[in-house]
Formats: sequence, structure tokens, C-alpha cells
Amino acid sequence: MSSQSPATILVIDDEKNIRRTLRMVLESEGYELLDASSAEAGLGLLEEHVVHCVLLDLRLPGIGGMEALKRLQRAEQPGETTVPVIVISGHGTVSDAVQATRLGAFDFLEKPLDREHVLIAVRNALRQHRIECEVGQLRQQVAGRFEMIGKSVVMQKLFAQIVKVAPTKGRVLITGESGTGKELLARAIHDNSQLRDGPFVKVNCAAIPPELIESELFGHEKGAFTGATSRKRGLFEVAHGGTLMLDEIGDMSLAAQAKVLRALQTGDLNRVGGEKIIKVDVRVVAATNKDLAAEVAAGQFREDLYFRLNVVPLYCPPLRERIDDVPEMVIHFVAEFCKENGFRPKTVDDAVYHRLEGYSWPGNVRELKNVIERAVIMSDATITVDDLPPFLNVGNKPGLDINRYANLTLKSFKEATEREFITMRLDEHNWNISRTAGALGIERTNLHKKIKAYGLQRES
Ligand SMILES: Nc1ncnc2c1ncn2[C@@H]1O[C@H](COP(=O)(O)OP(=O)(O)OP(=O)(O)O)[C@@H](O)[C@H]1O
Ligand SMILES: [Mg+2]
Repeated sequence: MSSQSPATILVIDDEKNIRRTLRMVLESEGYELLDASSAEAGLGLLEEHVVHCVLLDLRLPGIGGMEALKRLQRAEQPGETTVPVIVISGHGTVSDAVQATRLGAFDFLEKPLDREHVLIAVRNALRQHRIECEVGQLRQQVAGRFEMIGKSVVMQKLFAQIVKVAPTKGRVLITGESGTGKELLARAIHDNSQLRDGPFVKVNCAAIPPELIESELFGHEKGAFTGATSRKRGLFEVAHGGTLMLDEIGDMSLAAQAKVLRALQTGDLNRVGGEKIIKVDVRVVAATNKDLAAEVAAGQFREDLYFRLNVVPLYCPPLRERIDDVPEMVIHFVAEFCKENGFRPKTVDDAVYHRLEGYSWPGNVRELKNVIERAVIMSDATITVDDLPPFLNVGNKPGLDINRYANLTLKSFKEATEREFITMRLDEHNWNISRTAGALGIERTNLHKKIKAYGLQRES
């Protein structure tokens, strides 16, 4: 659905009055209407038209509402999506509606219909449908080989880079803050490379004690050191024919760096305590949340290794720089956690999106994912702001909420706060210009100018 063309809604109900009322209500909001008095006729319309939402009466002559619901969900629509169906149940038949929701109906409305309820349900369904379509399109665009969400410009650029670099043998250095998706990115590179059928091995360089890293990476012969009771293959060998992800490479000791450098230079390695030279064919992808160039400057990271690893740099931007991606991620994670916990799909209140889009996400996607997991577990059928953790429920309390200003320049920050401050003083003084100007310590003319510039209006 493009944002310009109006959404098309199909109403299936055998009662003429209901069809007429819904047509009036929905057309007045600018939607296109199709209607049918039976499920058979409705399904016929669905074959000929692109429909964005269906309102379905459950008590129908012919094949009946439940069967219609099942068929509607199998009906083919663009982008491999299903049309959201809102079922309409008669008074006292709510249990049918509950059953329908289990079968995948998006929402249900009880007769007599209430204009506001109808509009809210339709709006939510359309929103969900739109996002699902976008997710579907995006998946197709990135060849469907990896599960990374991101229709934002920065992520689209990153995906384009992955597509270019993955099939090559180029070494990749992934940087980005914690939780931005570096591991997912490394896997995406592997999955889109010629080595995709080989192993993907990840090693967390920060988690291995310096004295053990050599044997972890390169293996050891029996008796090479105290504790080496048997021969062990190193991770470079394990990853032969595939990808080795050196995660948290910025935390590797200088001694270990020297050994990794040698292996990368020659492609040869020795097991600790071994004579034999082992040849391996491994693509190395390194990742770090540190600024490696700065580490090099500080003498903490070997420059020669840095250049070896950093053939193709890829940067995972922090979530606050791609806040546009939050709604899609929310939908995706809600679905994922509902499935994981065996819940039927839950819906998400609009206010939740606003809250989540207004936060700066220092822990990035991982933090968002945790928040959603918790919300899915704590919520009823609909996730509301009350299901969010307290730090997201700051609401509009006065005072500086740093998260709201995360993406602002100094200029826009000043304007935003000035605007808020002036509005507050105006309210305090009942919009009396002289007194407000006095309280603010500015001239009345100046206050008038500001009111005009910010388009401030008294709330009725
Ligand atoms: N674009 C994305 N779409 C969907 N899920 C994502 C995306 N980016 C990250 N995630 C999810 O967020 C979580 C954190 O991602 P990941 O482990 O790749 O981050 P990281 O950058 O390696 O973090 P760290 O530096 O702390 O190791 C994972 O569960 C991952 O699946
Ligand atoms: Mg990681």
C-alpha cells in the first residue's frame, strides 16, 4: 500500500444496514469501500482487488464466518502477507469472537457497532498490515538470507555493503556499540558468502584468558603444557572452509595479537607444542565495540594487525540513529516472543510506539529486544505503556528527560526547551502577556515574536 492511495476495506455482512453504516463511517474517513453480503461474494472480490483490511460478520449464510476467516487467511495478496480480518460478532456471541481471534483474526467488534471502536480497530489493522508489507518487501530485497531488520537509510546502505562484500574473500572489521547487531552482521556475511555451507565459528576474544588464547585459536598437542592432557584442535582449524568471527578483538592481549597476525599473514599455523604446519582456509571477520584506531594510537592494538583486519570496514549504527526502524523491530520481536512463549499474537498500542521511538536506547537493539520480551510476558492481549519498564514510563513530567533530546542539535535543543519553557510560563500566568514577559524577564514585543515564531496557542 502506498501512503498516497487510500486503503481499501472489504465489509462482509449479510445485514444491509450494517453495510450501509460501515460504508458511511469508513468513507467519511477517506477509505475505499467494497462490500459483500456473503462470504462467497467477499472472497470473489478479494481475488479481483487488493484489500488492506476485512470486516467480517461471523453469522453468515452459506459457508459461514469461521470458514470464511480461514479462507481469507489463505487468500493471495501482494507481498506474501495476509489481510488483517476484524470480526464482527452479534451481541452475546463474544465467545465466537474469541474463537475467531484464536484462528488469527486481528481484532473483534461487538454489535451494536460503535463508530470510534470501528475506526480504531481499522486504523490498528492497517498499521499492522502496512508494517508487515514493508517487512516482507525488505526481506525479499535482501535475498531473504538474513533476519536483519532495517528499512532506514543507514541500514539500507549497510545491507548494500553486505551484498557487495559477502561473496568476496575480503576481511571485514565490524565496529559499532554493544547490542547494535555486529554478530548478526557477521552471520549475514557468512550466509551470503561462498563459504555458507562451511562452519561459522565465533570466538569471544575478551572471554578467554590471555594465556589460553593461543591454544584456543590454534590448538595444542598433548603435553604441550600442564593441563594439555590430549590433543586439541584450535578454532582456526574448526572453522576451516568457513568463517571465523573474532569477536571483541579490541580486548585481545598484545601477545595474542602477535600470534593472530602471524596466522593471518601466512595462513599457516602451528598447534601449541606442535611441529607440523597446518594450512587453513578461513575467512576472518573481526568485530569490536572499541575504536580500534584510537587503541592503535594508544599503543593498545597492533597497527599491522589493524591494517590486516580492516580491509573492509563495516559500521553498525546505534539504534538511536535509526529510530525509524523501531516499529518494525517491535512487530518482529512481539511476534517472535509470542511464538516462543506459545501466546497468540498480541497487538501493540500506538502510545507504546511513541514511547519507544522517543528513547535513546543506549543498549541498542539488545535493549529493545529485552524490553519487548518483558512486555510480551507481562501484557494481556494488547501491549500498553503500562507493560514497559519504569525508565520508559517517564511520561511528560516536567524536567529534563535526556532521552527526548538524544538526536537534537544544540540549536534544536535550545529551541525545544525554550518553546516548552515559554509555554509553561504562559500557562502559569493564564496567558497574560505582560505578566509572562515580566516573569521571563523579556520585553512584551519579544514575547509576542516568540509566540508567533513557535506558533504557540493556548489549549482550550
Ligand atoms: N537489525 C536487527 N534486526 C533484528 N534483530 C537484531 C538486529 N540487530 C540486532 N538484533 C538482535 O539484537 C541482539 C543483539 O545483537 P548482536 O548480538 O548481534 O549485537 P552485538 O553488536 O554483537 O553486541 P555486543 O557488542 O554486545 O556483542 C541479538 O539478539 C540480535 O538478534
Ligand atoms: Mg556481539
